[in-house]
Amino acid sequence: MKKPRKRARKKPARESPKPDAGMTRPADGCAMVIFGASGDLTARMLLPALAHLTSEHALPDGFFVLGVARTPMSRETFRNAMSAAVEKAFQDLPDARPMPAELRENLYYLSAEFDDPKTFSKIRSFLGRERQKRGGGPENHIFYLATPPAADPLIVSQLGAAGLNREEEGAFSRVVVEKPFGHDLESGRALNAEIRKVFREEQIFRIDHYLGKETVQNILVLRFGNGIFEPLWNRRYVDNVQIAVAESLGVGHRAGYYENAGIIRDMFQNHLLQLLCLTAMESPVRFDANSVREEKVKVLRAIRPIPPGAIGDWAVRGQYASGVVDGEKVPAYREEPNVSSRSQTPTYAAVRFAIDNWRWAGVPFFLRSGKRLARRTTEIAIEFKEVPHMFFREATSDRLEMNVLRLRIQPDEGISLKILAKVPGAGMHVTPSVMDFPYAQLGVAEHGAYERLLLDIVTGDATLFTRGDEVEEAWRVVLPILEAWEERPPSGIPTYPAGTWGPKVADSFIGNTGRRWRRL
Ligand code: BG6
Repeated sequence: MKKPRKRARKKPARESPKPDAGMTRPADGCAMVIFGASGDLTARMLLPALAHLTSEHALPDGFFVLGVARTPMSRETFRNAMSAAVEKAFQDLPDARPMPAELRENLYYLSAEFDDPKTFSKIRSFLGRERQKRGGGPENHIFYLATPPAADPLIVSQLGAAGLNREEEGAFSRVVVEKPFGHDLESGRALNAEIRKVFREEQIFRIDHYLGKETVQNILVLRFGNGIFEPLWNRRYVDNVQIAVAESLGVGHRAGYYENAGIIRDMFQNHLLQLLCLTAMESPVRFDANSVREEKVKVLRAIRPIPPGAIGDWAVRGQYASGVVDGEKVPAYREEPNVSSRSQTPTYAAVRFAIDNWRWAGVPFFLRSGKRLARRTTEIAIEFKEVPHMFFREATSDRLEMNVLRLRIQPDEGISLKILAKVPGAGMHVTPSVMDFPYAQLGVAEHGAYERLLLDIVTGDATLFTRGDEVEEAWRVVLPILEAWEERPPSGIPTYPAGTWGPKVADSFIGNTGRRWRRL
């Protein structure tokens, strides 16, 4: 999707960044302050990504990390914990990498309370001192909120009060916010408003890690880098679009969060709607942050509000019961640690969206996602309309299938096109066959999603991050579903055995529209 990246190295940053330029400027002397550094996200995602980037010399000179959290811990203990986390993250890879010494030496830790203003003056003087030790120059700061969302407004306002939001003498100050961006439209708006009191939109990086996946970015290359798809990419030729994000994992130990979130907040408001936007958007005028995000917002605005009285025609839910996944018996959602035995939290949903614009009017977009399904797989399938007059109908015993373009996001990344072909030999028999492009043919991805996104934050390229208005529109889109389900909890939520493809009700849901789910 984007121009080849220049490595973020060597030249000192002298000018104030212009994030919308899709820029690749170096950012020497950059500090990343991670709030919530004793947590899971830091250990599982951030440090392994930083370790990989460090070993590739992709980070700017003078880069250092200050972890901040409540847990009392010495700097040495923090460094050891992070080294162990990096090793664990890479243990299954053939080229397992230890924590690079360069990163380990540049890891610091501060145990502190977020509601204490002294914490922030300490951070400020620490950053200043470290900068001086490293030869001065602009103080570029990234503040990463790897904290529970409730803590975000407090930390942001303290950063403002300590003046850490300021961009002086050509330096930058950026804040990174992890999902969930609020709990609903109102809290999403309030969170945006709080952050914008302190930081300008250009300084805010809202992470949706799906946008860091290579194959997600490749959707735009496929659509806008090739001339042959665009003429077909509309209501005249497309019958329906199916976007599926299936997971075989269960909720694990995240019940505290998941019980209040459920599948719509966890997956639809962000990842699935992002996939829908990239599939449905118009071509942006340029590949820069605002042009791309402008087009995505337009798609969200065009999604028809789901009528509260008819929710069953637009969305269905389910929850996993016990079952067998990958040959192993697994418990029901309600038997998972810290889940209520009467929980009504959906772990599966299927939703139909209508996009009211000239390109897509009348084309249903079916989105489905669930935990503990039969297999982990994510794909976007464009099902094309049947040919207007099919005179080969007699030539096959099977139902003639339509052409389908499948974009396989993960695993087994690639693109395939299902076409009808003649069976070689006497007579005229036809059969569906598949033209396949495995993405691995182009080589192995150099960077995982977090690495890619962290590098973009350092270089100030916000194209792959969600803009404030986008987050709010996404809440508007899913809110009727959340409200209808929360107001009218089902007497018994439909269940599906773990290791299957979801509740039966999902089949009749799509069946009522004359379609069926694609086999994943
Ligand atoms: C996260 C959700 O955002 O995405 C998790 O909170 C989910 O519940 C995960 O498992 C899926 O990500 P991926 O990259 O494994 O598809």
